[in-house]
Amino acid sequence: MSMENKRRLGKSNLMLSPVGLGCWQFDSKGYFEKPVGSVIQGIIDTSVRSGVNWFDTAERYGNSEQILSTILYYFKKTDSDVKIATKWWPMFRTAKNISKTIHDRINNLYPYPISLYQVHNPLSFSNIEKQMQEMSLLWIKGMIKNVGVCNFSAKQMRIAQNVLSWWGIPLASNQVRYSLIDRGIETNGVLDTAKELGISIIASSPLAQGILTGRFHKNPEKLDGVGLRKYSDKFSQTELKKCKDLINIIYYLSTKYNVTSSQVALNWLINKGVFVIPGATTVKQAEENAGAMNFTLSKWDMDILDEESNIFK
Ligand SMILES: NC(=O)c1ccc[n+]([C@@H]2O[C@H](COP(=O)([O-])OP(=O)(O)OC[C@H]3O[C@@H](n4cnc5c(N)ncnc54)[C@H](OP(=O)(O)O)[C@@H]3O)[C@@H](O)[C@H]2O)c1
Repeated sequence: MSMENKRRLGKSNLMLSPVGLGCWQFDSKGYFEKPVGSVIQGIIDTSVRSGVNWFDTAERYGNSEQILSTILYYFKKTDSDVKIATKWWPMFRTAKNISKTIHDRINNLYPYPISLYQVHNPLSFSNIEKQMQEMSLLWIKGMIKNVGVCNFSAKQMRIAQNVLSWWGIPLASNQVRYSLIDRGIETNGVLDTAKELGISIIASSPLAQGILTGRFHKNPEKLDGVGLRKYSDKFSQTELKKCKDLINIIYYLSTKYNVTSSQVALNWLINKGVFVIPGATTVKQAEENAGAMNFTLSKWDMDILDEESNIFK
């Protein structure tokens, strides 16, 4: 069975491809180098043609919501072809702001509905109960189809799920950083709790912002074109050194399967049963990343990767 086959997101009715497209790159204010409009068009078109049926954007990602809906509409994609997940930005705001800003989200994504509405992080002025009550109201009014969260701890997931369940709404997903060099969710209770409650994990930064492709190990002293990413811990010389052996093993496996390093890194996550949303700045990257659905690492090779990346748990 091809891995391209859709999977259910949590206990929702959403059927999504294991690989979605992360849309932060469309407008990240210099964190990544922004691709020009025609390239973004190619990234979206290629992703859909290669079996990707959903997109992860956010209120916080500049104009990425409008860019996405405009291009999907240009390519005549319908709501049954593609699904959009977006996010509410909670910082320095109370839960009331969820209803206040929902019309902006709806307008930006028109004519596509909000298939998944996520709270971007747990840092609102209001508690989780209030946020989830507000999300429930939107769901009841039909303004959003499903509810998700991002960067929530195991305890916070339980609270969110509990409030939503008063209305019979499942908490569909928790989007968290997860990759071969970010395995914290395997030990902090998030992965176990998600499994227990039937909540899907969506892995953000599944390529560790490009590190797992091996690009930055070729010339680690000279991180050209990296943008603001270079200030994040993972791009320090010490951290890059720490994953050097793993990068070599990923490369070795990529030659064995005749795929790329990015495809090995993504397939490892897909095989663990999580959804991945790699971002892309070129059409080639988008094509490669979608191609991670077309093969399966053997159990033996999964074990090797597990063992070599154990230090990142
Ligand atoms: N919920 C949250 O708090 C949160 C946080 C972070 C991200 N996200 C979401 O997750 C998505 C993905 O995370 P991310 O963008 O942080 O990191 P990522 O997907 O791990 O890495 C994306 C970067 O990796 C490089 N890349 C991608 N595919 C490649 C390939 N096939 N070959 C070589 N290089 C490749 C590109 O770098 P270049 O730019 O150098 O080309 C790209 O910008 C975002 O777009 C966003 O939707 C959510």
